[in-house]
Amino acid sequence: MLGGGVCDPVQTPHVPAVRPQPAVGWCVSAAWVGDRAPVVPRTPGVLYQASHSSKARLVAMRVLVACEFSGVVRDAFAARGHDAWSCDLLPSESPGQHLCEDAINVAWRSGWDLMIAHPPCTHLAVSGARWFKDKRDAQHKALEFVRALMAAPIPRIALENPVSIISTSIRKPDQIVQPWMFGEPFNKKTCFWLKKLPPLTATTIVKPTHNWGSNSFRSGARKLSPLPSLHWGEKERSKTFSGIANAMAEQWGLLA
Ligand SMILES: C[S@@+](CC[C@H](N)C(=O)[O-])C[C@H]1O[C@@H](n2cnc3c(N)ncnc32)[C@H](O)[C@@H]1O
Repeated sequence: MLGGGVCDPVQTPHVPAVRPQPAVGWCVSAAWVGDRAPVVPRTPGVLYQASHSSKARLVAMRVLVACEFSGVVRDAFAARGHDAWSCDLLPSESPGQHLCEDAINVAWRSGWDLMIAHPPCTHLAVSGARWFKDKRDAQHKALEFVRALMAAPIPRIALENPVSIISTSIRKPDQIVQPWMFGEPFNKKTCFWLKKLPPLTATTIVKPTHNWGSNSFRSGARKLSPLPSLHWGEKERSKTFSGIANAMAEQWGLLA
């Protein structure tokens, strides 16, 4: 999936006086963002710095959700008052602030307080291990993409992936969570590599009823699982669970 996808960005030559209203599939072009300006203009009326008299007020973070087309994590942060942007080669599936461009370019621009990154796992996931020998080049590129995201000059970073060769090629994850720890009754191991972020605390622990689908669930440990598997297409399967997204926004959104 790396480098894949299509986009039809809005070709706006100058920063408009009034920010265009987001719509489904809406993208901001690089021209709109501009090269010299911070990555996005600060949103009027949002408090970005705590003042002595306003300690109780939310300090909004400028959050980049890299490699997200669903808007699930972006919307969880936006709903809590943060200036949250998703970024993907694909347009956003839901209305909201979305940059339709390469996540590395966006992450390496200044101005972000926090990045949550969901790089493609197609060539990294251990569930595809039996194909590894056929795709060394693709794996190398996918790992370089992950390294560039991890090294971005952003104070706090969470990079998410399934159990993958990131663990053996870069470093072990700081945390592994399951959707059932956040109110959604599914098994799907999700790893986090964290920079200056505490591990997420489980919010609502429920009993898993299903394995979240993947063809690989028919092999390995999942073959032994008594639970039925739900099988989705790759795109649907890759969307972040809203229980996990809400936990990120509630717990990591308070660290400014
Ligand atoms: C595993 S999916 C993550 C989906 C995400 N969890 C969501 O809820 O939308 C990986 C995403 O990375 C995107 N992608 C691949 N290469 C990219 C790049 N160079 N820059 C930005 N996004 C990229 C893909 O289009 C895909 O949507």
